[in-house]
Amino acid sequence: MSEKDYSLTELNKPKDWTALTEMAKKHMPIIEAPTSVKANEPFQVKIKIGGIDGVEHPNMLGHWINWVILYADLRPIGQIYFYPTMTNGYVATLHVTLEKSATLIAQGYCNLHGVWEGKAFKVSVK
Ligand SMILES: [Fe+2]
Repeated sequence: MSEKDYSLTELNKPKDWTALTEMAKKHMPIIEAPTSVKANEPFQVKIKIGGIDGVEHPNMLGHWINWVILYADLRPIGQIYFYPTMTNGYVATLHVTLEKSATLIAQGYCNLHGVWEGKAFKVSVK
């Protein structure tokens, strides 16, 4: 694990999604949601932290993903806390409603490796 793999003081965000480090693969929040929804109708947003190419993040006392937060156009709309050892795979599901098209962004926090931001996910509202 090199020090360049992560930062505790800055947002961790991959520069090249085609060449993710092992560190990024286990910390990155990934959003799954419909790309097109109806205004003000709830839809499901699933966020999975890590597990890219099967590289799961540890879940143990002393090292775990503490929380994930979801933003719509930089407005925080939900935050889920995880506690160590008793969750499986760091999956959070939120029901979201949008009035207009928005870009969803998820950030996850590991107590040892800082805040990680995944790919922006555009949802268009019809
Ligand atoms: Fe970590």
